[in-house]
Amino acid sequence: MKISFAKPADVDKGALVVGVLEGRTLTPPAARLDERLGGALVRAMGASRFAGKKDQSLTLLAPPGVKLDRVLAVGLGKAADLDALRLQAVGGQIAAALATKGHTAVSVAVDAIDGAPLPPADMAAHLAFGARLRSYRFDKYRTALKEEDKPSLRTLAILTDGAAKARTAFAVLDKVVDGVTLTRNLVSEPANVIYPEALAKEARTLAKLGVQVEVLGEARMRKLGMNALLGVGQGSDHESQLVVMQWTGAPKGEPKGKGKAKGGKGADGPIAFVGKGVTFDTGGISIKPSAGMEDMKWDMGGAGVVIGLMKALAGRKARVNAVGVVGLVENMPSGKAQRPGDIVTSASGQTIEVLNTDAEGRLVLADALWYCRDRFKPRLMIDLATLTGAIIIALGNERAGLFSNDDELADRIAAAGDAVGELVWRLPLGEAYDKQIKSDAADMKNIGNRGAGSITAAQFLQRFVDKTPWAHLDIAGVTWSKSDKDTVPKGGTGFGVRLLDRLVADHYEVR
Ligand code: BES
Ligand code: MN
Ligand code: ZN
Repeated sequence: MKISFAKPADVDKGALVVGVLEGRTLTPPAARLDERLGGALVRAMGASRFAGKKDQSLTLLAPPGVKLDRVLAVGLGKAADLDALRLQAVGGQIAAALATKGHTAVSVAVDAIDGAPLPPADMAAHLAFGARLRSYRFDKYRTALKEEDKPSLRTLAILTDGAAKARTAFAVLDKVVDGVTLTRNLVSEPANVIYPEALAKEARTLAKLGVQVEVLGEARMRKLGMNALLGVGQGSDHESQLVVMQWTGAPKGEPKGKGKAKGGKGADGPIAFVGKGVTFDTGGISIKPSAGMEDMKWDMGGAGVVIGLMKALAGRKARVNAVGVVGLVENMPSGKAQRPGDIVTSASGQTIEVLNTDAEGRLVLADALWYCRDRFKPRLMIDLATLTGAIIIALGNERAGLFSNDDELADRIAAAGDAVGELVWRLPLGEAYDKQIKSDAADMKNIGNRGAGSITAAQFLQRFVDKTPWAHLDIAGVTWSKSDKDTVPKGGTGFGVRLLDRLVADHYEVR
């Protein structure tokens, strides 16, 4: 779908979208259209329950007196509530309503609205952002899709005052969607297509955007002592990989960014993102039940977000130095697979008793986090992982779990999430939880007791970050959606890309 911005004009072909505020108050474009239609829009409202409330819409097909095929009136709700998120939602609703209706061209009229917090150019940009986010589809393996089910929409023209400004604002958001789209694609691909080497190859494609990409294979990782990560992958026929992506976007000579770094040696370092990339999680010898196991193709969701985020940051040339590290393994049972009770020595030197081979994500992250900290001395580290089923019990599919050793970082992440509509909820860490992973045989074991499973997993990770300001996002509940949302079609969500892009923009870019 091609998105364009142009100055307001009367449209007389394709489909036209206008907004109506709560209380059936026509926006200026809706009023102009109603006039052209001889009052048909107002009459249609009177004949229906459409009242301009948010999430409502009203369709007029082939309205009289004009050559338009369709008029879609969308409910905007209250003018004062028309913030960026609301406009993204409206854009998503428009895309969903019109994507497969046979129209190739859709125009949306966006004028200034009295009492609305945003100028028309920003409203237009966010509406376009939402429309593009919602238009995502993963159809590549659907060879028998019926003609009437295929998307017809080719061009979305947004007619607005300040079109040039809207175009500039959207150019940045467009790059964020590119990142989200990559993440969704990676998460949607099945595990016979996306295995560790294949995912590393996808990460390599970021080189053309100026990201420096390195791939470490098993031999290199063995030399680095990454036996926690390697143990998870040892049952697979696919070679494990560690991918390091570096985006150096901060102007030289002023690498600190505007956010205040905590003192110490990491103050000038990059900000780092670390992802769990289990391309398929059978559970290993502690094998999972077969029902629903197919979901474990998206157990590389954390890595997918890190790769998509690096694409967004590089795409919009973010003025920041950022590092992405993803640990890629396939967790399989086989004659070579790790056994429950095995003890491995991680790259940090700490030993781990692997009591359950299905608690594998933390083993991968242990070595990835340690490596990242040790090599880059980052000013902060954020990891993302589809780490525990327990986080779904706690928070459902509404929020990601947030854990951190740094209150300022946690607050910033929560605020960025609120701003983009990717919500998180902070859970506690503490010594009492840490005790649960004490082992009789090694420095720690990889599972706790029955309770607080997401917290003991986070405690485990914390043992590999040393003093680095760190946050962990458990995204097991938000990486895949079983239902359509305004800006997120069902399937891979890309949750985390928008949030972390916003976090970077708000706090860590050099102005
Ligand atoms: N990848 C799973 C967690 C998961 C579950 C993600 C459901 C998405 C949906 C993880 O590797 C896992 O198996 N965790 C175990 C840990 C347990 C063995 C301590 C779990 O949550 O059951
Ligand atoms: Mn597992
Ligand atoms: Zn897993």
